[in-house]
Amino acid sequence: MSFRYYYADRIRERMPEFKGTDEELQKAIDDISLQYNSAIRVLETRLKNISDDFDKQHSYMPIHHEHSRLKSFDSIIEKAARYGIEDPINNLDTVKREILDIAGIRVVCNYEEDLAILSDLLLDQEDVEVIRVKDYCDRPKESGYRSLHVVVAVPVYLVHTKKMVPVEIQFRSIAMDAWASLEHELRYKHKGELDPEIVDTLKSCAEDLHRIDETMSRVRHKVLDSGNKYNEI
Ligand code: GTP
Ligand code: MG
Repeated sequence: MSFRYYYADRIRERMPEFKGTDEELQKAIDDISLQYNSAIRVLETRLKNISDDFDKQHSYMPIHHEHSRLKSFDSIIEKAARYGIEDPINNLDTVKREILDIAGIRVVCNYEEDLAILSDLLLDQEDVEVIRVKDYCDRPKESGYRSLHVVVAVPVYLVHTKKMVPVEIQFRSIAMDAWASLEHELRYKHKGELDPEIVDTLKSCAEDLHRIDETMSRVRHKVLDSGNKYNEI
């Protein structure tokens, strides 16, 4: 995943104050791309390692699936403008400090209880720096959105340097992810505006799904308590 020259014109339109060359612009794009893609790879591997060891110890893999993305350079610039960062290309350090979701990983777990287990195991690693935790499971957003967001910085070793690079990880259960994906699509299709009645209905769907998450978790424990091995179900 990398950004190439063909973006330069469009990016320039959004940054009339940037007087540098295409090469300078490309260097900034490549710098971000290299560091944040590397951080995503580091975290993907660590999450996979945890999941594999968990499977070895408990015959159970907490991760259903995961998805990573690097924010497009246009979106980074757009967000920098929203955050009031002037001349972002010449202030990349500010951009990196303020915009914490340039790299994002969505980790979808089977059960709600897996979110805390997995995130705790990751956050306990000695070289993982916790930058921010937003628990929208305990306190859902007004929309009904539930998820556990953590921003961590991990070490990325390059040719001559080591950088601590932040990545936003969204831990969700399958039910939380299903709701968020559909709600996002509906909102996106309607340019972010939905009727209040629809908003209410979606919120109550989120609550229904939360109850289902709790029920599924209870069922799981009953099955486990009755002696059924996970991998025999
Ligand atoms: P952003 O500028 O949007 O990144 O906001 P923020 O930095 O305050 O982060 P926040 O904690 O609000 O989380 C933002 C991300 O969480 C979004 O990019 C979505 O992926 C997800 N999210 C937050 N709220 C909702 C919601 O109501 N619906 C859906 N579908 N996703 C949400
Ligand atoms: Mg975001």
